Amino acid sequence: MTVKETLITESAEEAARILREGGTVAFPTETVYGLGADATNESAVRRIFEAKGRPTDNPLIVHIGDLAMLETIVESITHSARLIIENFFPGPITVVLKKQSVIPNVVSAGLDTVGVRMPSNQTAREFLKLCRVPVAAPSANISGKPSPTRWEVVKEDLEGRIDCILKGEATEIGLESTVVDCTTEPPVILRTGSVTVEELREVIPDIGIWTDSSDESAPKSPGMKHRHYSPKANVVLIGHASEFDDPQAAYIGLNRPNTTAKLQSICGSKEEYARSLFDFFREADRAGIQRIYCEAVDDSGIGRAIMDRIRRAAE
Ligand code: TXA
Ligand code: MG
Repeated sequence: MTVKETLITESAEEAARILREGGTVAFPTETVYGLGADATNESAVRRIFEAKGRPTDNPLIVHIGDLAMLETIVESITHSARLIIENFFPGPITVVLKKQSVIPNVVSAGLDTVGVRMPSNQTAREFLKLCRVPVAAPSANISGKPSPTRWEVVKEDLEGRIDCILKGEATEIGLESTVVDCTTEPPVILRTGSVTVEELREVIPDIGIWTDSSDESAPKSPGMKHRHYSPKANVVLIGHASEFDDPQAAYIGLNRPNTTAKLQSICGSKEEYARSLFDFFREADRAGIQRIYCEAVDDSGIGRAIMDRIRRAAE
């Protein structure tokens, strides 16, 4: 692809103007940085796939700045979607619903559904409101690499390939949104995230969880079949820090290993683990480290999403 000048700005107005004119704009959210384009503009959306090298069979999430826009994008808001919206919007969760024809097939990868999310991050909200159009946005990384949690990482991957980076803070959560398919009853969690299974069960007790072993007829997230979140280094999942004994490797976990790693991150909580994980992968690659050991955490709360991302990186 041809190299283009990437404007790096703190002005949400400027970034929104570029997006409305058909450009590609990376922006912060509370989960990870997204790479946005006008979701109603087919050629703008195609440029997202080109910039990332993303397979075209993997649909994009559409982001909105206010709830009124939802009705212009989806056919109807199902009962379970309404419960999720009432309890968790704006926030780190995406609902999949039947789409209207304003959302072109390139966004939904040919599916008749669309994933919609309303971020809570202030910069994201300001930017999305100024865009005044729904914004299709995958994570702002080269396809297959870990999602970016800082604008500098977006620059590292995508400078010269996109029109603009809207600078913001490092993301608070660090893992991608929870994705829930609300077209079925009961709805099904397609991707775990920081809105936890426990929190969702309080609102929808019989909600399902899709797993790789779910049968073929089960609804699934097309993105889950693609390789994800992988650093260049080999990722190894270990049960406990005490199993670590490779001083040339990198280590991340809640407990301190007996052997000091070349690069290590001892996290004070699961939230900190989630926030640090993808950036740690990137840092290890920059340091030329061959192996990254990740300590397992229990499945409760955000632990489930952390384990999901580590397992996919370790595949
Ligand atoms: O936190 C996030 O979700 C970030 C920020 C930027 O919003 N976005 C993100 O997008 O992680 P992406 O493209 O990296 O992941 C989107 C996931 C993929 O697994 C995709 O298959 C799934 O959502 N998805 C999107 N639309 C879908 C649909 N209509 N049906 C089923 N799955 C869908
Ligand atoms: Mg992604």
